[in-house]
Amino acid sequence: MTIIKVEQLKKEYTAYERGEGFLEAVKSLFKRRKKVFRALKGIDFSVKKGDIVGFLGPNGAGKSTALKILSGILYPDSGNVNIMGFTPWKDRKKYVSHIGAVFGQKSQLFWDLPPLDAFYFQKAIYKINEDAFQEQLKKFIKMLHIEDIIKRPTRQLSLGERMRCEFVMAMLHQPKIIFLDEPTIGLDIIAKGTIRNFIREINKEQRVTVIITSHDLEDIENLCNKVIIINKGDIVFDDKIKKLKISRKKYITISFYEKINLKKLKKLKGVRIKKIISDYIVRLEVNTYKEYLDEIIKRIRMGKRIKDLDIREPPIVDVIKRIYKK
Ligand SMILES: Nc1ncnc2c1ncn2[C@@H]1O[C@H](COP(=O)(O)OP(=O)(O)O)[C@@H](O)[C@H]1O
Ligand SMILES: [Mg+2]
Repeated sequence: MTIIKVEQLKKEYTAYERGEGFLEAVKSLFKRRKKVFRALKGIDFSVKKGDIVGFLGPNGAGKSTALKILSGILYPDSGNVNIMGFTPWKDRKKYVSHIGAVFGQKSQLFWDLPPLDAFYFQKAIYKINEDAFQEQLKKFIKMLHIEDIIKRPTRQLSLGERMRCEFVMAMLHQPKIIFLDEPTIGLDIIAKGTIRNFIREINKEQRVTVIITSHDLEDIENLCNKVIIINKGDIVFDDKIKKLKISRKKYITISFYEKINLKKLKKLKGVRIKKIISDYIVRLEVNTYKEYLDEIIKRIRMGKRIKDLDIREPPIVDVIKRIYKK
């Protein structure tokens, strides 16, 4: 069942530029140089009930713009959006009771109050009945391990602690869809894991449809059944996650206590030397398609002790470039 249908959605931002200095400032009073930025160039897509859809794309691609429009915060210039029969920016009042949102950069909690107070505020706003509220709250506290956290002032919480509470805020009124804009940005691996589990659970248990933007490939890989890749205001990929050939390449910078045997290293299969940083440090590109990472590292190590190790994913821009080439 289609729950979201988007057609020819366009959004332009207009910025006014002016030159430097006083004279230019005066001139700009009369004639401002207009600069139009096309953030969304007419995108189409649809989402089925129960999907977890990932919006992937480099910075400035238009992901947040799309999400703001879908959640009714922003007007588009043209195009149609139908979400459960609503047009978000027209039926905003009724619409918001069916959706929840977590925008990584913007908090729904109150800085000086504990999250628990904010939860009660949410209860009043959405007229959530007492029993349902207590039941949801109890469940979320358990799932997110926030028993003690929710009684401390929000300003004292770490980013990870706060984000977990943001999810409660977004879910208390039992929305059918939640919009998540970079919900794991800046979080450590453990906090990311907790949040990802929570998203999976609410999707499975309550059949909440999830739209998530991220520039973290792992978020998308771990959660989504469908991926939409946006680049420069256009959709460049829209399909099941299975169809997306996510790169199995990793970049490893490895530092040894002893000098590296480059000759031997060059001969290793599935390992490419990207840069020799010193006699002791080297940057490699490895392919984890056929072999587990720990096995590859074991081969690279050749029995020597490792001083330091840094493992990275290829940047998302590279992934998108590859999709473009196809
Ligand atoms: N309020 C605004 N005024 C002018 N330009 C904007 C505004 N918001 C976003 N943009 C521009 O629109 C483009 C898309 O932004 P955004 O949707 O935030 O991208 P993303 O979330 O994918 O990083 C960016 O180039 C950004 O600079
Ligand atoms: Mg954004």
